[in-house]
Amino acid sequence: MGFTVAIDGPAAAGKGTISRAVAQTFGFAHLDTGLLYRATGRKLLETGFSPEESAKAVVPEDLERDGLRTQAVAELASRVATIPEVRAALVAFQRDFARREGGAVLDGRDIGTVICPDAEVKLFVTASAECRAERRFRELKEAGQAARLEDVLDEVRKRDARDMGRSDAPLRPAEDAVTIDTTDMSIEEAVAVAEAAVRAKLEEAI
Ligand code: DC
Repeated sequence: MGFTVAIDGPAAAGKGTISRAVAQTFGFAHLDTGLLYRATGRKLLETGFSPEESAKAVVPEDLERDGLRTQAVAELASRVATIPEVRAALVAFQRDFARREGGAVLDGRDIGTVICPDAEVKLFVTASAECRAERRFRELKEAGQAARLEDVLDEVRKRDARDMGRSDAPLRPAEDAVTIDTTDMSIEEAVAVAEAAVRAKLEEAI
């Protein structure tokens, strides 16, 4: 049986943590779709292909490579993600993943709105820009990377504006999404809300 959980939201809101926890708890496969755009950006730099050719050339092994999670690659990903041909080239892979046997969690920006509008569960995970910047800043510090909080906040705001302002598949909650604002929540609380939404739908499906 296919069962899809679509988790969308802005950068550093907690989507990744929630998605991994939900996948683990329910035994679903997980796809971080941001990695597809990150790998596309990197392919473009490495090959000199056009953005569309770069997206078409991405293979699953590219998602496992080191170095995809840097700020520089995130910025590049956000830029290539505004190009409709790039988005179109990545649709089939995501939809195939979503309908695999045993259930799937996909997290990104347009999963509930464009990629999987019929997903059984749609969550929109968000938090204030200040809170997200602070979390990202702490992660960078823990990873030993030099950063200034003002710069990280500026980066978060720019990426939000680009992801929400693009004409093709802008970041926004699906009409039937459950919104989880994690600004004042612990990770455990946010995961519990997400898991309760999934459990309720699973029970309905039986
Ligand atoms: O989730 P992330 O930070 O790894 O995503 C990197 C960029 O990729 C993000 O700024 C916008 C783009 N993206 C997208 O447009 N659609 C998705 N489903 C996932 C990511």
